[in-house]
Amino acid sequence: MRRLLVATLATALTLAGSAIPAQAAPAPGGAGLGDEYFPDYGNGGYDVSHYDVRLRYYPDDDRLTGTTTILATATQDLSSFHLDFVLDVASVKVNNRPAAFSREGDHELVVTPSRAVTRGGAMTVVVQYSGVPSNKVAGGITAWVRTPDGALAVGQPEEAWWWFPSNDHPSDKATFDVSVAVPDGVEVVSNGVMPRNPAREILGWTRWSWRSIHPQATYLAFLAIGQYEITRDTTADGQQVINAYSDLLTPAFEDAAKASVERTAEVVDWESGLFGPYPFEARGGVVAPPDTLTFALETQTRSVYSSGFFRSGSNTSVVVHENAHQWFGDSVSVDRWKEIWLNEGFATYAEWLWSEEQGEGTAQELFDYLYASKDADFWTVAPAAPGASEIFGDAVYDRGAMTLHQLRNTIGDQDFFELLRTWVSEHRYGDANTVEFTTLAEKISGQQLDELFDAWLYTPAKPAVPGAAALTA
Ligand code: ARG
Ligand code: ZN
Repeated sequence: MRRLLVATLATALTLAGSAIPAQAAPAPGGAGLGDEYFPDYGNGGYDVSHYDVRLRYYPDDDRLTGTTTILATATQDLSSFHLDFVLDVASVKVNNRPAAFSREGDHELVVTPSRAVTRGGAMTVVVQYSGVPSNKVAGGITAWVRTPDGALAVGQPEEAWWWFPSNDHPSDKATFDVSVAVPDGVEVVSNGVMPRNPAREILGWTRWSWRSIHPQATYLAFLAIGQYEITRDTTADGQQVINAYSDLLTPAFEDAAKASVERTAEVVDWESGLFGPYPFEARGGVVAPPDTLTFALETQTRSVYSSGFFRSGSNTSVVVHENAHQWFGDSVSVDRWKEIWLNEGFATYAEWLWSEEQGEGTAQELFDYLYASKDADFWTVAPAAPGASEIFGDAVYDRGAMTLHQLRNTIGDQDFFELLRTWVSEHRYGDANTVEFTTLAEKISGQQLDELFDAWLYTPAKPAVPGAAALTA
């Protein structure tokens, strides 16, 4: 209302020939968010608060149809805006009016509303679409994986493009409702809680509904569709624990997977003791069909694991890692992809703390081992400036964890764990970067830590460790 008045006044003054400049004309929203490593990921000009993704999936021919409704607020006067998406769009509506749309590059959908959206104004964007996600290549990849009995939408940083239109960047998080209708007898697993049990929809079809009630990055939304055994439990404080195991796992893999993933609630309780209260509404894990995924991902509230992690018995370390990400990565997200060590270094360090707790080697022993054994190549990548191709490289994980261990040795256990807890509570459900972390570390410890962080995070060379000469291989 106030905005409208200002615009009218400016127009009137312009018409009267006043020297006061006219209101700037609505402008197109940007095709990216200025991410140095991935310039066209995410979009400018609006901020999403909620995604409602309502789909139907045909496993036999990998066909997806449906509608995503996006609730957003314009952050500028918008004549047009982008969404990141690759499937075939049938129609777009903005604030209940049909909008024009076109494609740019391999994953940009450009939407031109019939009326410009005013800065600060609400936008309801309804996109109707269909397509065969496994046929779409973008950024040189197809992140959607077709499995023998369904599909997996699990990936980082690219994933959302293949199943819902979005502002695909961790700096714009939103709540989600995801519902998928599938042929009776097929299971659908996603994030958060099930607001209702799977329900028969029309003859032969069942709809599954999932809800994320805390802000979630687009890459952390996932789908696992196929034949799954679903286990359900509740924690002492009433939180849903839902795990899912592919029916395609052989018995040995299934047992090893359960011996690990069924301990999720215990692991999360242990991590809560270190990092502060668990930030989300549900817990769990999903184990993918054999030979379909090569990694695990900290999909919010319910991580997804490659079955390969369980090839030789239990692996609680990966459960510790992915669940540590619920604090470091999911609740506190990177504001730019180059900050990824804030996720991976911390989740790796959680594995070291678990190892220490289990009596399988202390964090210091793990540090010493890596310091002595890593080759020259390893030291050429700086964790806080790894380059786009190295965001999942060893330096981000291992040198990131080594950095935290050096920090802990320098400031002491009390300040170190207070720092971790303050970090997650100050940035809960938001995003953050390395400078904010190092600033907080100096504030809490009262120490000047530039030298340590320069050497460990930003310099592509092996840092010296006082008194560690004996460790060099
Ligand atoms: N964040 C995941 C993890 O730490 C790694 C994902 C790697 N992604 C990929 N496409 N390889 O466990
Ligand atoms: Zn990780």
